[in-house]
Amino acid sequence: MNENMKVITVRTAKGIVIKIRNFEMPDIRRVMEIEEESFLDGDAGLYLELYEEWPEGFLVAEKEGELIGFVVLVLTPEGEGRIFAIAVDSRYRGRGVGRALLKTAFNVLRKRKIGYVRLEVRVSNQIAQRLYRSVGFMEIGFIPFYYKNGEGAIVMRKVL
Ligand SMILES: CC(C)(COP(=O)(O)OP(=O)(O)OC[C@H]1O[C@@H](n2cnc3c(N)ncnc32)[C@H](O)[C@@H]1OP(=O)(O)O)[C@@H](O)C(=O)NCCC(=O)NCCS
Repeated sequence: MNENMKVITVRTAKGIVIKIRNFEMPDIRRVMEIEEESFLDGDAGLYLELYEEWPEGFLVAEKEGELIGFVVLVLTPEGEGRIFAIAVDSRYRGRGVGRALLKTAFNVLRKRKIGYVRLEVRVSNQIAQRLYRSVGFMEIGFIPFYYKNGEGAIVMRKVL
């Protein structure tokens, strides 16, 4: 790990201790493992492109040196933040890792004086919707046939 990298240690509400830091190239293998088990439809090339565009927007969570989750932020042409992807290793879900990643991502955006963050989520993904509502996202729209399998997306937005 780069010695100058900022690392945040978080004890989640569910009592596990994780470290949150920026993504680095060698992390891509674990990111793709987690992304594939989460059926997010992305590919490694796209993740690396987004990282190169804005390295500070790509955060990972580690537990005892193992990468167990990630969040990728992008900036929209309107100057808002957007959660491009978030996923947690299935063995560690429900322990506050997703919420900790999101809160750290909000701070990255606030530091850039960005006022809003938005995202799209599958209509069927009740768990993610619940997480997003719990950190202040509100539903602002719906996009039919947004995903490859024809499923629609709920659009959510939060004031930072
Ligand atoms: C969505 C995801 C990132 C959440 O990460 P996580 O670490 O499990 O979430 P947290 O433990 O921080 O949970 C935060 C909130 O999410 C909701 N939640 C999490 N797991 C839940 C479950 N099994 N059932 C219902 N709600 C749940 C709850 O509101 C929870 O808050 P609470 O613990 O105070 O009740 C994770 O489930 C995941 O990787 N899913 C697959 C990928 C995915 O769907 N990504 C989102 C695409 S838009």
